[in-house]
Amino acid sequence: MRVLVTGGAGMLGSSLCPALMKRGYEVIATDKIPEEKIECLDVTEGEKVNAMIQEFSPQIVFHLAAETDVDKCEKEVEHAFLTNALGTENIALACQRQNIIMVYISTGGVFDGEKEEPYTEFDQPNPRNVYSKAKWEGEKIVQNLMKRYYIVRAGWMFGGGHIDKKFVGKIISLLSDKNELNVVNDKFGSPTFTEDLSLALLELVQTGRYGLYHIANQGRCSRFEMAREIVQYLGRKDVKINPISSDAFPLPAYRIKSETLENFKLNVLNIFTMRRWEEALQEYVARHMKQTLKK
Ligand SMILES: NC(=O)c1ccc[n+]([C@@H]2O[C@H](COP(=O)([O-])OP(=O)(O)OC[C@H]3O[C@@H](n4cnc5c(N)ncnc54)[C@H](OP(=O)(O)O)[C@@H]3O)[C@@H](O)[C@H]2O)c1
Repeated sequence: MRVLVTGGAGMLGSSLCPALMKRGYEVIATDKIPEEKIECLDVTEGEKVNAMIQEFSPQIVFHLAAETDVDKCEKEVEHAFLTNALGTENIALACQRQNIIMVYISTGGVFDGEKEEPYTEFDQPNPRNVYSKAKWEGEKIVQNLMKRYYIVRAGWMFGGGHIDKKFVGKIISLLSDKNELNVVNDKFGSPTFTEDLSLALLELVQTGRYGLYHIANQGRCSRFEMAREIVQYLGRKDVKINPISSDAFPLPAYRIKSETLENFKLNVLNIFTMRRWEEALQEYVARHMKQTLKK
């Protein structure tokens, strides 16, 4: 089976593409900037999107490409909607024309964060920053245009080793020259290892049960707890992690209090069981550190 991946050079793409190839899929990986084994495809260019999808004629398009810098989205609203909403529309229209299955990766950030319990697929989104609003618009576009689609909301992602520009990647690089870190303890989420998410996606697309899903590693934590887990696992007794309030870290984009996800449908439909976040994080840190040390 032939599949096309957008945003293939990113964190999730660097786990998903090898996982797909390992299962025997023929993969056309694309991104805004071409690299070795990555074709050039800017998802904001509708005609090129259509032409490439027509040329390769994949059975599934995994649409990962997005502007994922949440603060940049807040400052550059037009860019955020152009990439995350209209870029998604370009992919959806091309898939619709050719009756291709579309997988769209969205975010637990679409909620308002006020719920105490984890969010399920049956909770109502109410996004609070530009990035999340644009991602939710992307969801609605996919739902309106497509019949055969999977929308997958993921949690706080980590993965990709040296290209990990998110929280875990930042903490690991800070640890190379710092032994005291202040980390917020009043924002909660569901860490999501890109390799576990990729395996779950592979199972999901085989079900033919189209619709909306939450996929994150199990459990909930704060950023502080995540950083503490990394430090403890590395045995870095020399490092002190201080819990602080997010008020001490003003950022352009509002961060909701909780984006904790429950994989309700994945579990009740017996599609895939995600392991706990601590186990996934330990495996990633072990591998990431090994790679970092080798350099
Ligand atoms: N990271 C998270 O915590 C998280 C959580 C939930 C959901 N998600 C969603 O999961 C998906 C994958 O995220 P990720 O963490 O792998 O993000 P990532 O590492 O930023 O990867 C996204 C890729 O898309 C590329 N891209 C940006 N604009 C593009 C455009 N116009 N055309 C084509 N490619 C473009 C990016 O290139 P540049 O780097 O050059 O911009 C990057 O290579 C995204 O849709 C994201 O919204 C992410």
